[in-house]
Amino acid sequence: MRVEEKLILALDVNSLNEAEGVVRALSGCVNAYKIGLSLFTTAGPESVRMVKTAGGKAIPKVFLDLKLHDIPNTVAMTAEAIARLGVDMFTVHAFGGKEMMAAAKEGAQRAAGETGRQCPLVLGVTILTHLEGDTIRQDLGINRSVEQEVLHLAQMAVDAGIDGLICSPCEIEAVRRVCGNKLTVICPGIRPSWARRGEQRRSLSPGEAIEAGADYLVIGRPILEAPDRLEAVEKIIEEMRNAMRH
Ligand code: C5P
Repeated sequence: MRVEEKLILALDVNSLNEAEGVVRALSGCVNAYKIGLSLFTTAGPESVRMVKTAGGKAIPKVFLDLKLHDIPNTVAMTAEAIARLGVDMFTVHAFGGKEMMAAAKEGAQRAAGETGRQCPLVLGVTILTHLEGDTIRQDLGINRSVEQEVLHLAQMAVDAGIDGLICSPCEIEAVRRVCGNKLTVICPGIRPSWARRGEQRRSLSPGEAIEAGADYLVIGRPILEAPDRLEAVEKIIEEMRNAMRH
């Protein structure tokens, strides 16, 4: 995979118009976009069609990040509907359990079989990257360390037969110990040295995350809040390229 294909831009904006402006301005430069809860709630399936048509000649990948977490039957039905939209990957919360993750995969495969499309990758979200040890203990009542909990969730994802994991770049090495190269590892919580950290806690720079073995990086605000978004994308890709040479 070429290094520029490893960048996924999080389209965390509030209107379809604004999202389309971003996709058109970066067309040819960004090869994958993440549509999350805010844009999908505002614009629905039209947001997927927009990225696929406005993103340039090389049609971008769409990562639909709705982080499904419900009973297995509901998740299977939703995964089926998501796969029919023609997205390339989507997320479920690993906290939903093995049966729920497996149901998501089955739902997606059912739709892919019927439409003749490739089955989207089903990705398990481990622990959100704004959470730290103390909050996880106090608010969620989890007494394992972040790393132990992520490893437990990663093993469950492997057992459920899903395709990949979302984790903090700080946990890639540990996750690879559990799943080797079998699973696609995608990391949000990426902060170039020149960007604001925001609420992200367990974060690394783009170069560090690539060196640690991430397959894809999800980056939002460091690009969306930059005075020149194209320049921000180019700087990030350059940093990723340098890391791949090491
Ligand atoms: O703006 P920023 O680069 O922090 O965006 C990160 C994106 O990744 C957001 O869309 C957020 O929902 C998502 N995400 C995350 N941490 C996770 C899973 C997803 O930040 N563990």
